[in-house]
Amino acid sequence: MVHKIIFINLALALSVTASPILEGLGSRISFRGRRGLATNGWFDEERTAQQVVRDHNKHRANLLNLQQNMGREAFNKGAQILPIAVHDTTNQRRQAEQLTDENDDEFWGGNITIGTPPQHFFLDFDTGSADLWVPSVDCTEASCSKKHKYNASASSTSESKPESFSIKYGDGSVVTGPVYTDAVSIAGVSVADQTFSAVHALAPAFASAPSDGIVGLAFPALSRLHQTPFVNSAVAQGAVRHGEFGLKLAPARSELFLGGTDPALYTGPVEYHPVTGSGFWKIGNGSLTLGSTTVSANFTTVIDSGTTLMYGPAPAVAAFYALVPGAAPHAAQPGFYAFPCAAAPAGVAFAWGGRAWPVRAADLSSGRLNATHCVGALGAGDMGLGENTWLLGDSFMKNVYTAFSFDKNAVGFAELK
Ligand SMILES: *[C@@H]1O[C@H](CO)[C@@H](O)[C@H](O)[C@H]1NC(C)=O
Ligand SMILES: *[C@@H]1O[C@H](CO)[C@@H](O)[C@H](O)[C@H]1NC(C)=O
Ligand SMILES: *[C@@H]1O[C@H](CO)[C@@H](O)[C@H](O)[C@H]1NC(C)=O
Ligand SMILES: *[C@@H]1O[C@H](CO)[C@@H](O)[C@H](O)[C@H]1NC(C)=O
Ligand SMILES: *[C@@H]1O[C@H](CO)[C@@H](O)[C@H](O)[C@H]1NC(C)=O
Repeated sequence: MVHKIIFINLALALSVTASPILEGLGSRISFRGRRGLATNGWFDEERTAQQVVRDHNKHRANLLNLQQNMGREAFNKGAQILPIAVHDTTNQRRQAEQLTDENDDEFWGGNITIGTPPQHFFLDFDTGSADLWVPSVDCTEASCSKKHKYNASASSTSESKPESFSIKYGDGSVVTGPVYTDAVSIAGVSVADQTFSAVHALAPAFASAPSDGIVGLAFPALSRLHQTPFVNSAVAQGAVRHGEFGLKLAPARSELFLGGTDPALYTGPVEYHPVTGSGFWKIGNGSLTLGSTTVSANFTTVIDSGTTLMYGPAPAVAAFYALVPGAAPHAAQPGFYAFPCAAAPAGVAFAWGGRAWPVRAADLSSGRLNATHCVGALGAGDMGLGENTWLLGDSFMKNVYTAFSFDKNAVGFAELK
């Protein structure tokens, strides 16, 4: 399970291109996409287990932040802060491998610069969180050895803040460090005095990732730092024309567009749905259909580019797999199901009261388990986000162009070109 070849992919990952502001329209940055959690097409038990724990704890942290910033009344019905999930890393062999693996495909990311003169970073664009952090030159841990690191002394625009930043990721470690403001630029969109953290400790889940850190694209209410996230700063400082960004996530030609949506990447209108509640890119009246059968309806959906898979409430997910011939729970990974690869479900679609947005059969599989069976990319999971709430990550987002509009307070979907 050591993949030397991945170093080539890492090089590709860094070769993103940014183009300057487009005729006052917006600004685009292309980045390399990920394929999912599979390793060479095979379901990867260890990485999936690690990812499930990370997703759980990320949203647990979001709820803590929401409580801190807005109070408990901002919680959706049924939302609660669940106990932290813990990833069992007692398997030493695997743990050792994590540090040498370069998993090229777990993150979507692109170049950003911080400071004057600019220091370069490769970050994960995450619509499911609202803070910006990068490793600091003070991180001397092995987990930081392959990362680009922020050197505050080398930036004339850096200012140190009294706060500190800390998130628990549940694998026995925290991401933590001091807080700064500095100039931040993504795809030619430059913001002054952006608050972020330069961390000196990294969870193992991040050590093996190709990205240096995260840029959160969710609402300010989720910010641990209780500060204005990058896109909102860009809007406030007039660095973008519209308070909107668009994402195309695909194995090739992925793109973040700042200041609107990129008409070059989709056809037809963008179907917008109002955001419900606080903090998350979350919309109501969702439904899931398989062929002509409605599996579940009127549910709430969080759209999260920082989550690889898709999660729904256990009864609804069981009802879904009951319709897939030969599907059965996958004992090794609670909440997940295996099904004959040959019977991969076709005709699966999500809708929010408008048109149905199909999910390709290939995106419903998280890789091969053995010669005949695949593990589904839709699993049962409760992150405490509220009653009847689904979390849709890349497996869904790869099928649509997604618009995130602060101006309209809405999430929109359009058909990819
Ligand atoms: C992206 O980052 C790499 C590594 O720091 C840098 O060499 C390259 O110039 C950057 N590309 C762009 C388009 O900014
Ligand atoms: C950080 O930058 C300062 C000023 O340029 C330099 O003296 C120092 O060596 C740098 N630190 C590291 C760890 O690169
Ligand atoms: C849909 O769910 C909302 C709450 O999320 C509820 O107020 C509404 O009554 C539900 N509609 C139907 C038709 O069940
Ligand atoms: C909710 O979704 C259903 C099914 O897609 C649709 O028939 C209904 O009109 C939607 N309701 C609202 C209030 O949008
Ligand atoms: C593959 O795994 C499934 C689910 O665990 C099992 O039912 C099936 O018998 C296995 N097939 C082979 C060829 O091992």
